[in-house]
Amino acid sequence: MQLTSVVLGASLALMAHAVPFHEHSHSHLHHARNADKFPIHITNNCGSDKEFALYQITGDFQMLQMSAGRKICNGETHTLHAPFTGLGLRLSGNADWPTGDQWNPQALAEFGYSSYDGMDGTAYNLSFMEGAAEDIGVSITPDNKECGPKSCTSPSTCGLSQGWTNPDQTADGSPADTVCYHGKTGFSVVWCPSS
Ligand SMILES: *[C@@H]1O[C@H](CO)[C@@H](O)[C@H](O)[C@H]1NC(C)=O
Repeated sequence: MQLTSVVLGASLALMAHAVPFHEHSHSHLHHARNADKFPIHITNNCGSDKEFALYQITGDFQMLQMSAGRKICNGETHTLHAPFTGLGLRLSGNADWPTGDQWNPQALAEFGYSSYDGMDGTAYNLSFMEGAAEDIGVSITPDNKECGPKSCTSPSTCGLSQGWTNPDQTADGSPADTVCYHGKTGFSVVWCPSS
């Protein structure tokens, strides 16, 4: 919780910095907006079509849909863009569910802005809380090779450092949470990875 408020404070400070951009021309503004996003390359390997979207849990615990639902056929890839300074972002492969049902247990790739000691970047983790489908695994690989990949082929075989399957993992120092402190980087996410 303390870390969250530090991170929130940092992103508010960043927003204050970004204000002068609004005085620039439209094309600059457009450019600045794109510059504030990072790509998430999604591959669906699950054997059937799935619908994906990015959601955000806000500071006051509202579930917001951040991108239009996008059907990805089995074996295909699609890229969406997420706000670099966004907190509580989660990619769902169940975007055919109503927004309120996004709270249900499911496989998720989660992202959030983080800054620490003059560095910043994106925190990322995999989450499969109790009740998530046994046959849906997810892997996440940062484009920046200095930041390690994570993969779980199933919630039941998911290692402590690879994904969240139980909130009690905080007792072990939250090894499932990693931050890529290299500024903005993209991520490749595979639904139903083979390893
Ligand atoms: C996973 O990362 C997201 C984004 O930083 C964060 O909001 C979430 O709390 C993390 N999950 C857990 C269980 O810590």
